[in-house]
Amino acid sequence: MIVSFTSLSKGGTGKSTLAVIITLSLGLAEKRVLLIDLGEEGSSSRIMLKNPSPPYLRNVLEGTYSLVDSIGLYSLSLFFKRRTIRSEFYMIPNVGSLPILNSNLNYLIIELAKLREYLDIVLLDYPAFQDDVYASSVNRTDKIILVVEPNSAHSVISLARKVLKGEVIPVLNKYIKASTFSRNAYDIILSEYNECVRIPFDPALALMNHRTLPYVLGNLKKETQDSLINLISMISG
Ligand SMILES: Nc1ncnc2c1ncn2[C@@H]1O[C@H](COP(=O)(O)OP(=O)(O)OP(=O)(O)O)[C@@H](O)[C@H]1O
Ligand SMILES: [Mg+2]
Repeated sequence: MIVSFTSLSKGGTGKSTLAVIITLSLGLAEKRVLLIDLGEEGSSSRIMLKNPSPPYLRNVLEGTYSLVDSIGLYSLSLFFKRRTIRSEFYMIPNVGSLPILNSNLNYLIIELAKLREYLDIVLLDYPAFQDDVYASSVNRTDKIILVVEPNSAHSVISLARKVLKGEVIPVLNKYIKASTFSRNAYDIILSEYNECVRIPFDPALALMNHRTLPYVLGNLKKETQDSLINLISMISG
């Protein structure tokens, strides 16, 4: 299954954060998961590793590496209160601008589909974009995780209505129960999609980077854990 994380043209909604957390969680559950970073400055791969080493996704799109040769196997020790558990996952990191053409991104999705036998799930971490080329590649994936923040829910949802054609799982990230913005955003999403996964604003996610990463899963609020489990089951279901 190929899953994309997008918020269309809105940046900073938490796409990379959620893609990383879900990759690590699926890795813990011994799923064969591949995370692909499409960020030009390195998004999720820079959360996983400070300086990810090549080959990068851009090398695949430039044609200097095959997709298969660019996939690295990574293993990270995660610390919980009394235990350490290893999460194994595959990743294609990226640093540097991508040669984005329709043919390149279509090629990526077609080549990924050929790996179905070897992988359980592929997560594509998109950057914020305005380009139709990105949108049409998102529409070729099996599920679209639309990550929305409370303060921009209205504009993102009206754009999504026009642009997104595939199966959308809407996620309202950084949800704050006491905030009217959050509650209104939840209503906007529900009226469009009849469902909405709310991920609370969580300090452990706000502080997440390559140094804190091993401690993040063990320090999430119970509510955040529950909502992530819910999201993972919607993705896998
Ligand atoms: N649920 C959350 N609670 C608190 N902070 C969060 C949460 N989710 C994400 N963040 C924070 O929001 C910021 C933006 O997150 P992230 O980089 O994942 O967004 P993005 O959508 O991938 O951004 P870009 O569009 O630049 O790729 C980061 O500082 C991250 O730590
Ligand atoms: Mg990102």
